[in-house]
Amino acid sequence: MDNSRAQWGSKLGFILAAAGSAIGLGNIWKFPGRAYEGGGGTFVLIYLCMVIFFGVPLMLTELSMGRASQANVVGCFHKLGHKGWSWVGWVGVLGAFIITCYYSHVGGWVLRYVYSYAFEAPEVYGDPLGYFYATLGLAADETTHFPWVAILFAALFMLCNAVVIIRGVEGGIEKFNKIGMPALFLILVILLVRAVTLPGAEEGLKYMLSFDWSKVSFTTVLSALGQAFYSLSIGMAILITYGSYLPRTENLHKNTVLICTMDTLVAILAGFIIVPAVFATLGADHVGKGGGFAFVSLAGVFEQMPGGRLFGVLFYLLLLFAALTSCISLIESIVAFLTEHFNWKRTATTIGVCTVMFLIGCLYTCSQAAYPLKGFWIDAAGGVSFPAFCDAMEYLTDRLMIPFCALGCCLFAGWVWKPESAIREIEQSGVRFGMKKTYAVIIRYIAPLAIITILGMSIFGGITLS
Ligand code: PFF
Repeated sequence: MDNSRAQWGSKLGFILAAAGSAIGLGNIWKFPGRAYEGGGGTFVLIYLCMVIFFGVPLMLTELSMGRASQANVVGCFHKLGHKGWSWVGWVGVLGAFIITCYYSHVGGWVLRYVYSYAFEAPEVYGDPLGYFYATLGLAADETTHFPWVAILFAALFMLCNAVVIIRGVEGGIEKFNKIGMPALFLILVILLVRAVTLPGAEEGLKYMLSFDWSKVSFTTVLSALGQAFYSLSIGMAILITYGSYLPRTENLHKNTVLICTMDTLVAILAGFIIVPAVFATLGADHVGKGGGFAFVSLAGVFEQMPGGRLFGVLFYLLLLFAALTSCISLIESIVAFLTEHFNWKRTATTIGVCTVMFLIGCLYTCSQAAYPLKGFWIDAAGGVSFPAFCDAMEYLTDRLMIPFCALGCCLFAGWVWKPESAIREIEQSGVRFGMKKTYAVIIRYIAPLAIITILGMSIFGGITLS
């Protein structure tokens, strides 16, 4: 059985695919807004510490669990001899399922905007907010209609994902990332040169390089930690699946450091593109976060920038590649689980699961503006509430499921499977792992405490980290 498992065709293929999973919408549109709110350079520095102290050890843990077990997220716990912990894998699969439902729809909007900048840029510039809302089914006169444009593009986006997944690990995922990732880096560099050479960009650059002690707070640290988890794809057990396709000869530690470095570099570069560009064109007040920012405020930036239309197309292409490679990893993790656990066929499973996720995602898109669909939420600080369905989906994954799954992985690796087993797996390639003690302390004590604090803050403290 183990011998027939898919494997990465090359080391580069794995690194690009894992970096592709990590580098996503989180890096390019969430990070710059958070970095701005967290004080620019101050946030960047705190974020770097979070990646080094928590990101690297947790990624290393997930990858070693995957490679040691050569199994999917749920099967991993069975294979390692602790069936009782498979709930961690279930939370991971379910979380990946819910994230894919909305991630694929946001990917669809991004695809729509590649088209919009290429063919309808004047309409976007004319009324950026109106254009965005019209895509989501809310007309200028406040009447609503079915958001068919957004949904059509989401269907196309999901189709691209399904095609890659059906082609398999080496023939599909690896091949796609080998083209998509270099393209992403190239576009990033072009946009960086454009942004920092804009007249007035120095202010934004200065801000992104500044350090201000007064901005260092508990909330900033937790916000950086939450962002690091999301950005590195930690806590959805995706990396267990990707690690399970790795041959024993691979140096896990070196690969982990490389993937974390690439992901962090892209986030920081995106910050150094967007913040200076917004400072130079719209002014500091317009740096924001979330969907509205990526689709609305940036229109003003591209409108005022020489060659803005071309750079607009490039920016959304960048976002598109990033979203695709991340979404592919989410779907692969689900498909790997379903095909191995239930013995289902890969093609039929992919088609089935993508269709269901796309349909649930339609509720996400519809609840943005067109229809008042409500979700359900409960927390100690705010009690019972009925947020928009789209918000409830994000709360569920970002505030609960990602931290829960990450906590489960830490507790499992720290106390049940034991750091020694992870270290043995890490050293399989024959290279000594020099930070055994530090790793064990982080995974057993420090990381679980930090995650419990995040959970506590979002459940009891009313602090929103997403
Ligand atoms: N890391 C991706 C991003 O930064 O957008 C999002 C993501 C992908 C989160 C896969 C979780 C995951 F399992």
